[in-house]
Amino acid sequence: MTEKDFIPSAYTKDKIEGKVTYRSPSNIALVKYWGKKDNQIPANPSISFTLDTCATTTTVSYKKLDKKISDFSFDLLFDGKPKEDFKPKISAFFKRTELYLPLLKAYHFTIETSNSFPHSSGIASSASGMSALALCLMELERELNPDMEADFFYQKASFLARLGSGSACRSIEGGLMQWGEHKDTPNSTDLFAIKNPYKLHPVFKDYQDTILLVDKGSKQVSSSLGHNLMHNHPFAEQRFDQAHKNLSKLKSVFEEGNLLEFIKIVESEALTLHAMMMTSMPYFILMKPNTLEIINKIWAFRATTKTHVCFTLDAGANVHVLYPEKEKEKVYQFINNELVAYCENGQYICDQIGNGAEKL
Ligand code: PMV
Repeated sequence: MTEKDFIPSAYTKDKIEGKVTYRSPSNIALVKYWGKKDNQIPANPSISFTLDTCATTTTVSYKKLDKKISDFSFDLLFDGKPKEDFKPKISAFFKRTELYLPLLKAYHFTIETSNSFPHSSGIASSASGMSALALCLMELERELNPDMEADFFYQKASFLARLGSGSACRSIEGGLMQWGEHKDTPNSTDLFAIKNPYKLHPVFKDYQDTILLVDKGSKQVSSSLGHNLMHNHPFAEQRFDQAHKNLSKLKSVFEEGNLLEFIKIVESEALTLHAMMMTSMPYFILMKPNTLEIINKIWAFRATTKTHVCFTLDAGANVHVLYPEKEKEKVYQFINNELVAYCENGQYICDQIGNGAEKL
């Protein structure tokens, strides 16, 4: 498949106005995407758990314009109120996707969006937000081209979401989602995310993720800037190679349910991501002292209890605590007794692997 396959031929149906709502989850990468080429093409493949509780709900109301216009026409509401500062991001997304969605200039859109997680929680809403928006627009395209096949619908939604925010392409469907060409994964592509095609051991089917909110402030360095610093990064090639190798190793880990190996790969990926930040030029640190306190507590707890709790990080200070469902009781107790103290205002969010976006 190539980009060209996503350029639609003339629409076969007409639609004057309508409304569509999608709820789309966030995701947490196990093998991280960090570094990209032009057009949101990832420098290395990545894989993530689709989450369940952390999600964005977006309603797009559309009304056909009398004639095609030269610029995009849309209003944006966040939590029911107009949100002007979100508009440039949406305009940029429309510009990037216009070739694939000619309908963008034929309608006026009202986009209403809200998140299930607190606004300033330090949880990025770009993955859930961009995937929800992409799905709503695809739903309109399906109205205009009703013969569209289900597979194509999801592939194109993921493709469009990727153009909004790379990791958003992994938030369309549930379970384990893989994005980026990888020699050991048939049908893997840089264009959109695919469902992990291998057998998945039952232990991973209801894996838990408790997100400890260590620092709810906004990031000092955006992920776009961070991705760019991987150009001319002294360790870039080794890092990209490592991501490929980790993905290959995960294949049997997922099939066999090998939790010890899973922990090694996932924690190493998280620390490598932050090591890349610390060794880029300019260098930066997104972890906070409490991030490290929590990591050390997790290591000590795992060593004494022989449970399988581990951590991962995204581009921020918050810690994702990952563990099998059957260890939930013990880990909850541990979080409440030992980790909550390191969270801002004692806040954390209990999440788990989810089924992907849904139309409401
Ligand atoms: O999708 P972006 O551009 O916000 O990048 C996300 C990068 C990480 O969250 C750090 C890793 C990942 O693969 O999700």
